[in-house]
Amino acid sequence: MSKFYITTPIYYPSGEPHIGHCYTTVACDSIARYKRMQGCDVMFLTGTDEHGQKIEEKAKAQGITPKEYVDEKVAGFKKLWEYMNISYDRYIRTTDDYHVEAVQKIFKELYDRGYIYKGSYKGKYCTPCESFWTESQLDENGCCPECHRPVVEAEEEAYFFKMSPFAERIEKLLTETDYLRPKTRAVELVNNFIKPGLEDLCVSRTSFTWGIPVTFDPKHVVYVWVDALSNYCTALGFKNDHYNDYDKYWPADVHMVAKDIMRFHAIIWPAILMALEQPLPKHLAVHGWITFNGQKMSKSIGNVVDPFLLGERYGADTIRYHILREMALGADSSFSNEIMIKRINSDLANGLGNLVSRTVAMADKYFGGTLPTEREAGDFDNELITAVEGLREKVDVCVDETRLKNALEEIFTVVDRANKYIDETEPWVLGKDESKKARLATVLYNLLDAIRVVSTLLSAFMPTDMPKVWEQIGAKAEHVTYEAAGKFGVLPADVTVHKGAIIFPRIDVDKEIEALNEIIKNNAPQPEEPEFTPAELAEQITIDDFAKADLRVALVKSAEKVKKSKKLLCLQLDDGGLSGAETGGRQVVSGIAQWYKPEDLVGKKVIIVANLAPATLCGVESQGMILAADTPDGGAAVVFPDQSLPCGSKIR
Ligand code: MSP
Repeated sequence: MSKFYITTPIYYPSGEPHIGHCYTTVACDSIARYKRMQGCDVMFLTGTDEHGQKIEEKAKAQGITPKEYVDEKVAGFKKLWEYMNISYDRYIRTTDDYHVEAVQKIFKELYDRGYIYKGSYKGKYCTPCESFWTESQLDENGCCPECHRPVVEAEEEAYFFKMSPFAERIEKLLTETDYLRPKTRAVELVNNFIKPGLEDLCVSRTSFTWGIPVTFDPKHVVYVWVDALSNYCTALGFKNDHYNDYDKYWPADVHMVAKDIMRFHAIIWPAILMALEQPLPKHLAVHGWITFNGQKMSKSIGNVVDPFLLGERYGADTIRYHILREMALGADSSFSNEIMIKRINSDLANGLGNLVSRTVAMADKYFGGTLPTEREAGDFDNELITAVEGLREKVDVCVDETRLKNALEEIFTVVDRANKYIDETEPWVLGKDESKKARLATVLYNLLDAIRVVSTLLSAFMPTDMPKVWEQIGAKAEHVTYEAAGKFGVLPADVTVHKGAIIFPRIDVDKEIEALNEIIKNNAPQPEEPEFTPAELAEQITIDDFAKADLRVALVKSAEKVKKSKKLLCLQLDDGGLSGAETGGRQVVSGIAQWYKPEDLVGKKVIIVANLAPATLCGVESQGMILAADTPDGGAAVVFPDQSLPCGSKIR
């Protein structure tokens, strides 16, 4: 029996899981189920990535320990997976003792092999993402390329993992093998990260303690990626005795991840494995994000869609179908209630649901539920039968290539073919003519057997609803195996159907969208208030020191963006004549263009440091600066004084 090992990323339990988290897990679950159906010995792993500064801070804010915090969140993830019928074989928590022990050994081994060394890390650090970035990786506003929030300068003693020894092998892995799916993404990885020279990776931290201690230098904790990525191996028993399946299942057949963590899985993970001299995983399947109104669905943006809420209205399987059907490998997929409901109506209610209910109803109406065994072949039979017989192979290929959207498209092509067959053969006309009974029985049998094959293959994707179809078409367990799905004519000739409840009811689009929008609005978690940490208090000064700064009220007469700069605005100010009447005021350049448009400021009075030595910014002279305060989201807010104060008024 061949083995098949598939993994999801391990999720950060820093908030409630949402539809965005469901995608990878549902996709892996469908593949795992399909492979089990094929007879593979499947290991399907998921879990949670529980260390890091963010978790430590969140727990602290709630007055509980980080472990208490993650325990509660992990329960939420597990509840969702149960609800979505996720058949994982193993669940790893990075706080599990065996994982901790194994990561410590891995870190030590990398150190002993000379791939980890001690240094000091200086760079741009994004606290919410817990990531250091190089200058060139920052976005056009100089902010974090992932969450687009401001970064801070940071420096700390840290251990580094040497990446350069692996550059050549990794480039080959990405460009010359089919490790990466879709392979088109290799170009960006090679051009952005490998060609410029692979930077060594910072793999320890001293600035927080919620992590796995480095055994030989315990003020350091192992930083996220060595801890997190190792899970794929430690969960099988690599460097620990808790499990004993490493030799059996490693290397993984498929790691599935979204694009934001592609780099870690495409470059860093292979490098770690190469350093440990372990075999590399076979495939890395990268998908896009489920977006909502064009943005990645995420708790911090507050646009999360609650899978429980959707599941309650339409059923968990319907949600599974929808997200799998919408997402193409490598591309984003935008979530919208309207698209979802239309998809449910067209594919499930009108397509499959209608096929099942019409076929079963006719078998019931014309034959009292049990088909007679006399047969008469006719037009269109072969076309339908050929489509049905060829389906399994097509789905196999799609599943093997992690193209689940295409797998569902193939299945629904046959559903559509079968519905067309009903229109072509007109069983309701045959039913009126006693002499056409054998032909009618053939038509209905062909339809029932087509439904059997379609629903068998679909059961990997929709495991709860397909048994309801089997019940209605009179299929027994032996008729809905993988083997039976490769053949036509498996149902007994005198099959008995059981008319039942409608499996996929049609939804009134307008009414439902209105209801859904209302519910989602009422249930939507408020966007999280960014946590605000005031800047550190500066050194003490005397009143005389303060008196040196001459703060004045000034009116913004005009403002414009400084060319070639995304950050600077150039303001013309009336300072009450302080700069001398002949100048007509003064010019101040201010780094607030990210937060203010010129027209937001014109006509407003601001506070300036009037005696600041002039400076030139981006080639433009600035005679002073205007006062602004830090905002919780890392921005700046101009301080507006009482607008009735005259220009030049001194602030003391
Ligand atoms: N803990 C790391 C992964 C470590 S794996 C060794 C992590 N966790 S995460 O919870 O932030 O994200 C886990 C996965 O969920 C990522 O692949 C991420 O991109 C995916 N998704 C989170 N929101 C998503 C969408 N809106 N759409 C699709 N996938 C999304 O990263």
